[in-house]
Amino acid sequence: MNLKKIGVLTSGGDAPGMNAAIRSVVRTSIFKGISVVGIKRGYNGLINGDFQELNIRDVSDIIHKGGTVLYTARCKKFTTEEGMDQAVETCKKNGIEGIVAIGGDGTFRGAGNLAQKGILCTCIPATIDNDIVCSDYSIGFDTALNTAMEMIDKLRDTSQSHDRCTIVEVMGRRSGNLALETGVSCGATFIIVPEIPNIDIDANIVKKIKDIQLTGKKHFIIVVGEGYGKTNELSKYIAEKTNMETRVAVLGHVQRGGDPSVRDRVIATHMGNYAVNLLTKGMSSRVIAINNNKIIDLDINEALQMHKDFNYQLYDIAQQVSS
Ligand code: F6P
Repeated sequence: MNLKKIGVLTSGGDAPGMNAAIRSVVRTSIFKGISVVGIKRGYNGLINGDFQELNIRDVSDIIHKGGTVLYTARCKKFTTEEGMDQAVETCKKNGIEGIVAIGGDGTFRGAGNLAQKGILCTCIPATIDNDIVCSDYSIGFDTALNTAMEMIDKLRDTSQSHDRCTIVEVMGRRSGNLALETGVSCGATFIIVPEIPNIDIDANIVKKIKDIQLTGKKHFIIVVGEGYGKTNELSKYIAEKTNMETRVAVLGHVQRGGDPSVRDRVIATHMGNYAVNLLTKGMSSRVIAINNNKIIDLDINEALQMHKDFNYQLYDIAQQVSS
């Protein structure tokens, strides 16, 4: 297909590696003779016509930076018929034939609707939560894991000095993937994830702490996925039942920032290239995913219906080795 102009946007929560994906989309497009506009603040920029042409130099020196140079937002208006029609109008008026949308499930839903209205759309999975059902991996997860791991390594020092139990809350929304891998990488005594919500605190955590205390250990790290929703209560309960001092550390948005890891830069570059290639073949309503270490593409609507299994095996291993 002979495309002349496409747009690229980032939407939803930012994730390290989004800039590497933008760069790859821009450079691949220009390599193929297609001009690119960068759309600002997700679908808002498409509705308001807030975009600028991006050339090769405009995406220099961004591969190593966190955040997104295009800014990002969650756009309510784009979920309405009126908002979508305005976006289609902007595309038509400005000769934008295709869009590469970088973000999570909400971003994909928007792109699917836009594709139905005749604009070619491909999507790239990017969120630190790694909760995108169709893909084993989403850009930003590895960097966020490393950030959380480094922070917890530091917390461990002070936890150890004071003989405390530190309860660390990590992001992840309704998914425990970030909590699980962070917890494993830090050797957490216990990991709490929203996928296993009704955990018996006495039988699992209090007893475990007491048993381990008998072996001489006096400090503990417990990693909690934010979707569990009861971090402060948990901290108070553990303090009460174990007679230990506890502290809560909520890592928060720090996990969303920072320079992207090698893995995130490489996958973002590969996916950005793949997304443009799909558009040049006239393919639309596609989402790019990683399946068994292979980059593939799927229909957006089918992708949104898929189910992602929580890694219970790794969760079980974490329990066995934390003592
Ligand atoms: O989806 C990414 C994420 O960082 C979640 O882990 C978190 O629950 C949410 O976004 C926070 O969103 P906001 O940036 O709107 O506070």
